[in-house]
Amino acid sequence: MKEVSKKGNHRNSERFSTGIGVLMATLGSAVGLGNIWKFPYLTGSNGGAAFLIVYIICTILVGFPILVAEHMLGRKGRGDAVSTFENVAPKSAWWVIGASGILAAFLIMAFYTEVAGWVFAYVFKSFGSGLLSTDPEVTSSIFASLVSNPVQSLIWQWIVLAVVGAIIMLGVAKGIEGTTKRLLPILALLLIIIGIRSITLPGAGQGLSFLFKPDFSKITAPVILTAMGLAFFKLSIGMGCMLTYGSYYSEDQNIPKNAARVVAADLTVSILAGIAIFPAVFSFGFEPAAGTQLLFITIPSVFASMPLGGVFMVAFFLLTAFAAIGAMISLVEVVVAFLVNRTKLGRKKSTLITVVSMAVVGSLAALSNSTMANVTVFGKTFFDLYDYVSSNILLPVGGLMIAIFATWVWGWPRFKEALSNNGALANEGVLKAVYNILKFVSPVLVAIILLTGLNIVHI
Ligand code: PHE
Repeated sequence: MKEVSKKGNHRNSERFSTGIGVLMATLGSAVGLGNIWKFPYLTGSNGGAAFLIVYIICTILVGFPILVAEHMLGRKGRGDAVSTFENVAPKSAWWVIGASGILAAFLIMAFYTEVAGWVFAYVFKSFGSGLLSTDPEVTSSIFASLVSNPVQSLIWQWIVLAVVGAIIMLGVAKGIEGTTKRLLPILALLLIIIGIRSITLPGAGQGLSFLFKPDFSKITAPVILTAMGLAFFKLSIGMGCMLTYGSYYSEDQNIPKNAARVVAADLTVSILAGIAIFPAVFSFGFEPAAGTQLLFITIPSVFASMPLGGVFMVAFFLLTAFAAIGAMISLVEVVVAFLVNRTKLGRKKSTLITVVSMAVVGSLAALSNSTMANVTVFGKTFFDLYDYVSSNILLPVGGLMIAIFATWVWGWPRFKEALSNNGALANEGVLKAVYNILKFVSPVLVAIILLTGLNIVHI
């Protein structure tokens, strides 16, 4: 479904059908492995509470305003990541932001599908009793045997891509809303149940202090860059994803309000995941800095110490798989929307080409713990490299450009008009605040954090 407007630009005509659908679909992109896997593992390996505080500050001062700007520009431009910029800023080079977003979508999918593959595999493993152990050695070795097996790693990744591809082929509104709508509240509830078990374990207090009592000596420039990268990754911003979603928003959506709800809900899910994981880490003697495996080795031990743990564990990994699917749909959609608009391929073929190319790029990440464990670029395996380049470089640079475009180029009158729905919403005070942060605070923060975190400038 596409229209070519009078100017010859590519505009889409699909819309999310209901108000709650908009919130849920956007949350479907934001909430995912970022909350359940990446947030706990980064918090664990970057010193706990202090990292959490930096991450929250970045989310509020950088993430939220950029999310609002992306939805605004997306709704205005009504296109894919690239066409949106051609529509709102004709005859300029701003479309490059969209192009870099397409690259980021590939890199993120390359490692995301692998982690999602582990989650899928754990759904099946949860049916047996082997996983249910509170012994770090046991749960670690189960995880190690999965990731060090190249064939299994590849097959699980391809299964994930096939599932996501199939959902995308069904079409935007049906595919995206339908899948994500009902599951998020159940996931949150399950996290609360796991959290209650976790904080009532012996020695759990240490885990809570780790998560909530900051030790600021842990904060270095690279740690701040990681926290900011996480803020971008979490809200799916800086790469055209929320821009593409904005293009499906109806004219009467209250964008800032919706964005605030998304940010609040997303942070809540991450913190719930932290409460579910860290008390157990300390109670059972796991290593908080265990890295990418943290979720997979600690969570089974919480279930092992719970009545009906096996049943809950199946439900947990299943819901995590659904959350991951929602996020991946939005990532693939960035590329597919572009191809559908720009080529004659049609939705089905565009999806197929995208998913197959992602499998190719992704296989290097899938093999990073086995066959290609010793192949490194800048000292990182492909898995880590894709993650680092996308979260810590491409998304922040994309977000920086979006913040600059929305304020210094697009300007206050249009910003106000677009976000007050042509004056229908009485929200000028809020808009002014968001605008000024977006204009003066976010870009400066992002620039400083990038320059120091990447070691280009020393302060
Ligand atoms: N926000 C998603 C998550 O936390 C990941 C994502 C990043 C999705 C960028 C889309 C774009 O899992």
